[in-house]
Amino acid sequence: MTQVIHDRLLIIDFGSQVTQLIARRLRELNVFCEIHPYQNVTEALLKEIAPKAIIFSGGPDSVMREGSPRPPKAAYDLGVPILGICYGQQVMMHDLGGRVEAGEHATAEFGRAYVTPTETRPEFLNGWFMDGMGREQVWMSHGDHVAEIAPGFEVFGTSPGAPFAITADLERHFYAVQFHPEVHHTPNGATLYENFVRLAGFTGDWTMGAYREEMIAKIREQVGDSHVICGLSGGVDSSVTAILLHEAIGEQLTCVFVDHGLLRLNEAEQVVKMFRDNYNIKLIHADESDLFLGELEGVSDPETKRKIIGKLFIDVFQKYANEIKDAKFLAQGTLYPDVIESVSFSGGPSVTIKSHHNVGGLPEKMGLKLVEPLRELFKDEVRALGHELGLPASFIGRHPFPGPGLAIRCPGEITREKLAILQKADAVYIDQIRKHGLYDEIWQAFAAILPMRTVGVMGDGRTYDFALALRAVTSVDGMTADYYPFTHDFLGETSTRIINEVKGINRVFYDCTSKPPGTIELE
Ligand code: XMP
Repeated sequence: MTQVIHDRLLIIDFGSQVTQLIARRLRELNVFCEIHPYQNVTEALLKEIAPKAIIFSGGPDSVMREGSPRPPKAAYDLGVPILGICYGQQVMMHDLGGRVEAGEHATAEFGRAYVTPTETRPEFLNGWFMDGMGREQVWMSHGDHVAEIAPGFEVFGTSPGAPFAITADLERHFYAVQFHPEVHHTPNGATLYENFVRLAGFTGDWTMGAYREEMIAKIREQVGDSHVICGLSGGVDSSVTAILLHEAIGEQLTCVFVDHGLLRLNEAEQVVKMFRDNYNIKLIHADESDLFLGELEGVSDPETKRKIIGKLFIDVFQKYANEIKDAKFLAQGTLYPDVIESVSFSGGPSVTIKSHHNVGGLPEKMGLKLVEPLRELFKDEVRALGHELGLPASFIGRHPFPGPGLAIRCPGEITREKLAILQKADAVYIDQIRKHGLYDEIWQAFAAILPMRTVGVMGDGRTYDFALALRAVTSVDGMTADYYPFTHDFLGETSTRIINEVKGINRVFYDCTSKPPGTIELE
């Protein structure tokens, strides 16, 4: 295990979908934390980590089920503050002599709820919960509920379905809440974490700089003397991954930039130039456009396209991996939202909306092991890390671009003609956005060429050309998104420019669908 010098907080994960958000809230407070699944938390691990505080996450199980997840008893004897959340609260009450009841319809709460402070100890609320707390909106997601609190605990807040919404044993510094303070829908939840870590004595000594140092040490430990291949797409995630790896293992890294012919206008040249000019990283520029476009010929089903592209990526990486001596690892810029969208807690697949993201599949087939240094981070944290690593700001701020590239922005059959039109139209659209100073306000913007031709009239002549869809969304992490509210002037001007400058387009639509119900990409 990596040696760290700063204060550590241990999160014991009982399987909640939002455990990583707890870590995120803590990172925002410059508190270093480690998440460990409950099965791995032994007395020995507790000793090794020597946490200054512990958080029990939520989870899907019921404490009344035999064999349901538990922390080790030793956790309660460490003498450090503990915060239990949702299932974590129920576990704490159950273990310490309280009682949990199965949820009946009347007491289950899912979604928005309101917690009202009990009047007894307002100074407690100011010291730990939220300054001047009144009736607070919180986010609940529980079937079971605490029916009797454990000896030593008091109640400090209630909600209609959770009479013990906020509880604490002030002497032992055990705190437990039924709701989820880590999610956006508990608007003041961050204050709760802030007060908890302050009470636990954290000084906020952890930064992105420290993350970088620790990741570098972890990568060295994992990789040893072996060689690592890193698929570089030119996006922020893979670029940050590559630079971090390069810092960690230098010459033991080879990046492969696969040009599948589905990139944006001049993208291959820009990415290769940025890396060759700024970094001394071994970089293979693999022009495989004929291979990819050849295999995609005549294919219009979105999932088939994705599968073909995924398989060809494997083939291409395999080809280069075979040429590199001691290549045992594949580095990927997988982020946390990719992990939760694609894999459930138990390791089984969750519902597949699209077979996207780079989780799983690839390395097993190639006999390579994975290196994923960004797996715990959210997009904005990756950008902060990129900044820390000295990546040019223009690169850090680039909108995300999907692995399958323009293939999923070209619904229906993909042809070289359509791709060339799309590349030009997309470039004009992005140029417009930049000229109007909107690029950084928008999370992701792109054009998609629609599988339809429509009739138009230009210069007294009839046209029968492709229609183009423009998409722009705001988002925090790509998991939910809203369409960007361009002005009519902007849309009109952009549409005119595209139709004038790009041969092959005679009609432009703007997509005003949020996610959900839409997804960001069209396929
Ligand atoms: P969707 O379309 O699922 O996209 O709302 C969410 C975010 O993920 C990107 N995306 C991908 N990224 N490989 C990637 O690396 C993929 O297969 C893939 N599919 C979608 C998309 O651009 C958006 O930012």
